[in-house]
Amino acid sequence: MGALEVGLPERVPAAGLPSRVEIWEVGPRDGLQNEDTVVPVEVKLEFLDRLAGAGLTTLEATSFVHPKWVPQLADAEQLLAGLDRHEGVRYPVLVPNERGLNRALDAGVNHIAVFASATETFAKRNLNTTLDEQFAMFEPVVTRARAEGLEVRGYLSMCFGDPWEGVVPAAQVVRVGKWLLDTGCSQLSLGDTIGVATTGQVTNLIGSFVAAGVGTESLAVHFHDTYGQALANTEAALRSGVSTVDSSAGGLGGCPYAESATGNLATEDLVWLLEGLGIEHGVDLAKLVETSVWMAGRLGRPSPSRVVNALAG
Ligand code: HMG
Ligand code: MG
Repeated sequence: MGALEVGLPERVPAAGLPSRVEIWEVGPRDGLQNEDTVVPVEVKLEFLDRLAGAGLTTLEATSFVHPKWVPQLADAEQLLAGLDRHEGVRYPVLVPNERGLNRALDAGVNHIAVFASATETFAKRNLNTTLDEQFAMFEPVVTRARAEGLEVRGYLSMCFGDPWEGVVPAAQVVRVGKWLLDTGCSQLSLGDTIGVATTGQVTNLIGSFVAAGVGTESLAVHFHDTYGQALANTEAALRSGVSTVDSSAGGLGGCPYAESATGNLATEDLVWLLEGLGIEHGVDLAKLVETSVWMAGRLGRPSPSRVVNALAG
């Protein structure tokens, strides 16, 4: 039977691409933080379990943010307590400040992500700080987390465009991003929070980081699909040497503090691309589609992912 009949594209490897991509699954966090209703913790736990069962090895589980700011993830402690950790799977969580770090440490977390803003307006709206005040908030978090032996990722939002400030200058993005890496983050995820980036911008921004001395092995990309560019932008990032890509199962997602943000790049769409390019990804696409169809049933609306709809149909 040919690849298409079993729900996979033909593999046609291309030059100049990584041989393996690490998929950083953000559905349980970036996806569910944006739902109108609060998903019961049992459903979240089953979602995480199914995602691990589909072969994903990095599952961003939840956030230790202020529960009033993101009520959808107010059950972070309960979730971590009930988590059935799969062998070889990492479960990072978002942490904004020292209060969040204390909560994460109490919950036995060993991998966190801080999340900075490349713009002044989004720093205010998402973190209630100025652009520079966010450094004072994150510095003790990163330093203490590292001292406690935790792995720390740094997110950077609004790297390409900001709904209030327009196009974001690459130099401004590189300044904040370099600070995160210099302070102790082992990886920097470049976020197109509102999904407006195009491929030239992606190539240029990654080039700007490389010119500033940042190796592409320290970079990840995080695309939202508002303008349908997420997959094209991902390929541009792969061609620039990036090999960690954030995505969410079924294309769930958005950001409660950036209204123009829609879902993340769907993991299924990403897997289809990677599979077709002969890039190793470790995911069982059929199981993942089944999971997204199940989750769509829990949420009461269909997945926006093209691949989910094509394969589930
Ligand atoms: P604040 O209101 O300025 O906090 O919020 P504060 O430091 O003034 O403290 C006020 C009260 O909140 C205090 O309680 C604190 O203890 C409590 P009180 O003394 O009044 O009783 N508090 C907390 N409680 C629990 N957990 C905490 C915590 N911190 C303070 N961690 C804060 C500042 C940063 C906390 C708030 O702005 C916040 O929680 N923001 C999170 C927003 C968020 O989660 N956004 C979505 C994630 S980012 C994203 O989606 C983008 C990304 O996907 C990449 C991309 O797409 O670009 C990552
Ligand atoms: Mg996001």
